[in-house]
Amino acid sequence: MKVSIIGGGGLVGSCAAFALQAGGIVRDIALVDVNREMCEGQALDLLHGSSIAGDQNITAGDTSEVTDSDVIVITAGLRRKPDESRLDLINRNVELFEKILVDVKKHGTKSDAIVFVVSNPVDVLTYLAVRALSLPPAQVIGLGTVLDTTRLRSMLAARIGVPPTQVQALILGEHGDSMVPVWSAAQIGGLPLDKWPGVTPALIAEVEKKTRGSGAEVIKKKGGAGFAVGVSIADVVHSIALDQRRILPVSSLQDGAYGLRDVCISVPTVLGRKGVVGHVEVELWPKERMGLQNSGNVLRGTLNKVLG
Ligand code: 2OP
Repeated sequence: MKVSIIGGGGLVGSCAAFALQAGGIVRDIALVDVNREMCEGQALDLLHGSSIAGDQNITAGDTSEVTDSDVIVITAGLRRKPDESRLDLINRNVELFEKILVDVKKHGTKSDAIVFVVSNPVDVLTYLAVRALSLPPAQVIGLGTVLDTTRLRSMLAARIGVPPTQVQALILGEHGDSMVPVWSAAQIGGLPLDKWPGVTPALIAEVEKKTRGSGAEVIKKKGGAGFAVGVSIADVVHSIALDQRRILPVSSLQDGAYGLRDVCISVPTVLGRKGVVGHVEVELWPKERMGLQNSGNVLRGTLNKVLG
């Protein structure tokens, strides 16, 4: 399987490439970036470790790499300022993103390629990609709240003192301020989170607040996310590469689940080699369902502004 990463010279793209190298599942990793020197440097640095990391083909190229790619990851874009919301970023990133889409279309893609948007605001840009590309909507996804979910699980584990891989928690909705933690489904080791020793409503609220502010906190401390978003991207790519059909909160075009339509947003999504296999509408607490619909309205409102 070949994965090309548009924006591969940057922090997010190069961390994704490293996570894919460490995962050892995809065969070809092609980095693409307008900053050619940096892109070549990232590819070279990855290549230098390949005799330990694994037998993969790691290259730096131009957008023509997309023509034979199975997955095209788009991480290119400007990063938020610490006090800037993801949606504020939209004016700066839409123009850049649309140029990338034109370039991808010019080169053409495989008919079964999956386009995987990471650039922010990811839900809005994923919707623009669905509209602009001639691929079936099921083959165009966004990272959505996969990163938020990863952060929530990891920080709950750290706060409670349990192994992070044994914490099951989920965030749905917008990858942004209106994201919706689904506490009704949270578990540790298969047991209800809210029955776990030491877990109180105050602790849950504390971790939720920290999760919501994680993106801005990382931007403030180190300029932007890299490692966690990199492993989140690799986790999604691997579900595609191995046709695992795992249920992941990726962003995709909605057609009715939870009353959501004509918007790209994260709901429980079965993800395999063909992209979105289906959306799973499991009953949520009324406030969670309302939160999800609010999130959809926020995104729809932004799309109406962007599309004019
Ligand atoms: C974040 O939350 C990059 O939007 C991403 O850090």
